Amino acid sequence: MSDYDDDSYEATARIVDPGGAPDERHFEAALRPRRLAEFPGQPRVSEQLGLVLAAAKRRGTTPDHVLLSGPPGLGKTSLAMIIAAELEQPIRITSGPAIQHAGDLAAILSSLAEGEVLFLDEIHRMARAAEEMLYLAMEDFRVDVIVGKGPGATAIPLELPPFTVVGATTRAGLLPAPLRDRFGFTGHLDFYSADDLAAILHRSAGLLGVEATRQGIAEIAGRSRGTPRIANRLLRRVRDYAQIHGAEVVDQPSAKAALELFDVDAKGLDRLDRGVLETLCRRFAGGPVGLTTLAVAVGEEPDTVETVAEPYLVREGYLLRTPRGRTATPQAWQHLGLTPPASDGQDGGTWAQQLSLPDGEGRFSD
Ligand SMILES: Nc1ncnc2c1ncn2[C@@H]1O[C@H](COP(=O)(O)OP(=O)(O)O)[C@@H](O)[C@H]1O
Ligand SMILES: [Mg+2]
Repeated sequence: MSDYDDDSYEATARIVDPGGAPDERHFEAALRPRRLAEFPGQPRVSEQLGLVLAAAKRRGTTPDHVLLSGPPGLGKTSLAMIIAAELEQPIRITSGPAIQHAGDLAAILSSLAEGEVLFLDEIHRMARAAEEMLYLAMEDFRVDVIVGKGPGATAIPLELPPFTVVGATTRAGLLPAPLRDRFGFTGHLDFYSADDLAAILHRSAGLLGVEATRQGIAEIAGRSRGTPRIANRLLRRVRDYAQIHGAEVVDQPSAKAALELFDVDAKGLDRLDRGVLETLCRRFAGGPVGLTTLAVAVGEEPDTVETVAEPYLVREGYLLRTPRGRTATPQAWQHLGLTPPASDGQDGGTWAQQLSLPDGEGRFSD
């Protein structure tokens, strides 16, 4: 199961790596940490999760269901696999988009073994009818199997052995409250510090047999948008670059040159990030502009702009999400080398402090 590939979702396919070579998947699997102890970063989530799992093991019961949320590439799938490994249980992997009917879920649930871990990736994209079945299964370990059609149809309750659901989502705000409430533990993954990314990169370099200097690693870590998946990808691109240019070692000059070639700027922003900011500043005078309008102008799906580009831009202070729309901050103008329009007093709200947002919005930035 370790070669499971979640890159099939458009939202995780970043343009940093346009080719998306088939062996990327293989690398991702090879670089995934296997146990909680080898999972750097996310200290809070990691400690809390460790406690939940250890306590359940000691009691000899299944742990609470676990929900993992956060932007793509931060380790949700890795953690799901780690949970199963720590519990010494098999893991069954499926995803929201694959469950379009309640029957799809019923088939999976009714075949689970006692203690098994059921990983539901992109759980917010599951069909409504399946969601309702899942509440019941998570709470009472029971599904109602409907037999027959029309007035003669009957619901036959089917007992399930205890199992653990691990849900992952890039959009926790889209989960209906009753489903969210069934998860006894929720871990919000946040962007990684440069130090944590450097530790991850050192490990990856070792596994890939790539020799790298501390400065070379630091250069890549600082430009990886706080995201291990991106860090690992950039490491491979820099290694390619170094090899082609006859260098044995990934050092700072080769890292810099390679990252420039792959359109990653000094702050780690990639083409999509800069596309969003450029569009916002040049075409919409800094905003505010609605998400859909912005996405159309950038030529991307609103979901991609919202889940892939925005969390990091918000967190790094380039973009604000206000009730009136997306707004560029002075830092965004400065980064692009542009001068913000002079305030005429009427748009006093343009650099508005971030107002409280509807549930789910901006939750990865806090
Ligand atoms: N804490 C971590 N330590 C080391 N590598 C990590 C970590 N988190 C993620 N990765 C790497 O990043 C890749 C993407 O992680 P993944 O768990 O698939 O993210 P998500 O499911 O959140 O999109 C993995 O293949 C793994 O190599
Ligand atoms: Mg994943």
